[in-house]
Amino acid sequence: MERVLVTGGAGFIGANFCRFLIDHTDASLTVLDKMTYAAAPEALAPLPAGRISVVVGDIADPDLVGRLVGDHDTVVNFAAESHNDTALSDAGSFVATNLVGTYVLVEAATRAGCRLHHVSTDEVYGDLALDEQQRFTESSPYRPSSPYAATKAGADHLVRAWVRSRGLRATISHCSNNLGPWQHVEKFLPRQITNLLDGRRPRLYGDGRHVRDWIHVEDHSSAVWTILDRGRIGETYVIGADGEHSNRDLVGVLLAAFDRPPDDVDFVADRPGHDLRYALDATKLRTELGWIPQRTDLARELSALIDWYRDHESWWRPAKAATEAAYAARGQ
Ligand code: NAD
Ligand code: TYD
Repeated sequence: MERVLVTGGAGFIGANFCRFLIDHTDASLTVLDKMTYAAAPEALAPLPAGRISVVVGDIADPDLVGRLVGDHDTVVNFAAESHNDTALSDAGSFVATNLVGTYVLVEAATRAGCRLHHVSTDEVYGDLALDEQQRFTESSPYRPSSPYAATKAGADHLVRAWVRSRGLRATISHCSNNLGPWQHVEKFLPRQITNLLDGRRPRLYGDGRHVRDWIHVEDHSSAVWTILDRGRIGETYVIGADGEHSNRDLVGVLLAAFDRPPDDVDFVADRPGHDLRYALDATKLRTELGWIPQRTDLARELSALIDWYRDHESWWRPAKAATEAAYAARGQ
């Protein structure tokens, strides 16, 4: 794996993965990123210029993608429209990037004989009851309940079909909710932390009992690297770090860190179709490939995340007011 094309490499997780590859391998990297509102090119700035180059462009552009893929041994696809709430009212860009863009990538990778790792999500499996024992595994049925999840599910089907019928050398991973630096303020943890930094209340959708299975972004990066290094072509791997918490509990931890009372919260309009619970069983990745997550002390990671957003206000501040205005327009 010498030349790696990282699509969506200026986003929250893609940029972390680029840093991981620089720190742990000798690979030279090319980032292909459309630089949408969600991109954080600042996250790539500290990486050594001799090891990484950035191309601004669209994964749905067949000419550009065909040229770039042909020059690389491996493609890792992080590029996506990723915000559930946006997809509920305006899914066009989700179809264009998540579905059509993945089609363009699988075609190009197949023609070039290039290895592809496709980054999917746990959300393709739908949701679980709060008391359900069986967590999501690689064999869970697809039951996407949101427009975002439906486009991610469709992309996975394209990858698998190209593996089986067109000889594409690909793997797929399904990760749970990530936390870490450089995540856009529209997402749950950055929104609540920056609200608290602004002296505002956190905003919980519905009754706040919804559960997500949290993993630090660096553990996601190490898992994707493990799959590239040791994963079997054609296989799917679930990535999770046993980090289930309700939204309400997490907000409680954040409030305590700001010396605010536990009920200092606004309960706002729920997300239509809001998935109740995600929970992942990553036994296959742990036992077959020996992956072990490292950053699983959630209290410590949340504290570090608060410090990070406090220290990087100049990065997130320009997006905050418009993000909150969009939420306010939806009663959230
Ligand atoms: P993000 O929204 O922070 O970043 C996405 C990046 O993709 C941005 O830099 C954006 O500019 C780029 N992009 C968007 N459309 C593009 C296009 N047409 N061509 C090229 N680049 C384009 O998302 P993220 O949170 O970093 O997620 C990365 C991947 O991981 C996504 O595929 C997402 O579905 C998946 N995932 C995310 C999470 C999570 O908790 N954030 C969990 C599981 C899976
Ligand atoms: P989000 O970060 O959008 O990720 P996902 O939809 O992929 O899980 O939301 C995480 C959880 O937090 C989800 O249950 C929705 C909820 N949520 C709130 O309660 N309040 C908020 O302000 C936001 C943005 C999300």
